[in-house]
Amino acid sequence: FELVIKTAFSKKRKTIKNNFKNILFDQDFLNLKIAPNDRAETLSIEQFINIENYVTQNKINFYCWYNSTVFLGVKMKIILIGAPGAGKGTQAAFLTKEFGIPQISTGDMLRAAVGEKTELGLKAKDFMNQGKLVPDNLIIDLVKLRINKSDCKNGFLLDGFPRTIPQAQAMIDAKIFIDYVIEVSVPDNEIIKRLTGRRTHPASGRIYHITFNPPKKDGVDDVTGESLIIRDDDKESTIIKRLKTYHEQMEPLVKFYSDLSNQNTINELIFISIDGLDNPDNINAKIVKKLK
Ligand code: AP5
Ligand code: MG
Repeated sequence: FELVIKTAFSKKRKTIKNNFKNILFDQDFLNLKIAPNDRAETLSIEQFINIENYVTQNKINFYCWYNSTVFLGVKMKIILIGAPGAGKGTQAAFLTKEFGIPQISTGDMLRAAVGEKTELGLKAKDFMNQGKLVPDNLIIDLVKLRINKSDCKNGFLLDGFPRTIPQAQAMIDAKIFIDYVIEVSVPDNEIIKRLTGRRTHPASGRIYHITFNPPKKDGVDDVTGESLIIRDDDKESTIIKRLKTYHEQMEPLVKFYSDLSNQNTINELIFISIDGLDNPDNINAKIVKKLK
């Protein structure tokens, strides 16, 4: 039979093809085709079970079973990391559209909790306003629960998580394997300009900048016409504290992921660093080019 692996990403197709070389099946049994298009063959139940075992043992992402046909594929699980104001939220908007996956922004989730004065919000508020990280134990379960929701079945984009080694390790311990870690790097002096001019539409997460990406009408969201806000933590004194926290916490994390990326594990995680000093469209194009 033919097993068709459906994925648009040539790097991933190559990785999977290499992994399948060590397959437990004998070669006559498996005529593997790695195709960028949507094709699959009908399999027997035994063949299903064998493939399922193989996939489980080797932690290959499972795409779907449909009508006795197996589609194996790669979900897009992305982590975006970068300094405050590096443009994570801005790039997330492009990438989630491109790959049909939801954005999971721990910052947005925490701000919503603060706004709603939930128990989490009351605990998180002071940390956020002081430019500090919210304690790991408040964040990890929040993200795990979110990832289990049905809209994450084809993957997800994490924006602002993990931010510490324990958060990253918690993902590995929970067997949540990531495909790409994308670092957007921007120097500190540019960050201050970006964050002091940011305006956001909290309900949708849309992000503007008074100079670099202004709304059509001053102070108003392009789509809903509702007022834009300045985030509480976008005061210059708080921005400087957030940058300090970033340099302390995130640099070890960048090393953690680039080291993981260099280890040749079956669940190949790819670490990509992108120069964030460019306009948002160009940065998006650079990221997508690296992924395909
Ligand atoms: P979070 O909301 O994640 O904030 P952050 O990391 O500080 O990042 P920002 O959202 O400020 O920036 P961004 O990179 O998304 O940039 P954006 O696209 O908006 O976290 C807030 C707080 O929550 C933390 O401080 C912490 O307390 C807590 N928290 C969150 N997650 C946590 C976790 N995992 N663990 C513990 N605590 C956690 O762009 C910025 C501006 O620049 C915009 O105006 C935009 O229009 C403009 N811009 C974007 N790209 C460009 C470009 N290429 N050129 C010019 N301008 C640009
Ligand atoms: Mg953001």
